Amino acid sequence: MNLRDSSYIAAGEMNGIEQLVTCFYTVMSELPEAAKIRDMHPSDLTTSIDKLSCFLSGWLGGPRLYAEKYGAFGMPQVHKHLNVTELERDAWLLCMFHALEQQLSYTEPFKKYMLRQLAIPAERIRLVCSGS
Ligand code: HEM
Repeated sequence: MNLRDSSYIAAGEMNGIEQLVTCFYTVMSELPEAAKIRDMHPSDLTTSIDKLSCFLSGWLGGPRLYAEKYGAFGMPQVHKHLNVTELERDAWLLCMFHALEQQLSYTEPFKKYMLRQLAIPAERIRLVCSGS
């Protein structure tokens, strides 16, 4: 087992990731600070939940389900039609912070690690998408 596999396992494998992402989108639907980014998504979040879960599976070192189901993934490309400034980036990360907090099986260091790692693509998206 290498470090990347251990992230996938620490996240609870696919069941745990799906729980985290479902929680993430529930928070996004409820948190006033996230209203704007929630509105960027379709009203039915089923596909959004599946896509982010499949992506995170591969990103955490588990099976590369996104590529299998949905094809190639370009992080900035799938967001480039959106206007993502610091506000939207921080709202996204805030939803993830609350979702991580609700995962009782996650250790504190793993929650912190996840948030730090997710801040990297979130910032990349902001750089590409601010002002679009
Ligand atoms: C920076 C703030 C972000 C905002 C505002 C944002 C917003 C969005 C929106 C509105 C969609 C389209 C959803 C849909 O049409 O179903 C989307 C798709 C997606 N996002 Fe983000 N996102 C952000 C950051 C991230 C990050 C950090 C990741 C990964 C770690 C990510 C992964 C994805 C994935 C996998 C999809 C599905 C792409 C597809 O196949 O359509 N997003 N995002």
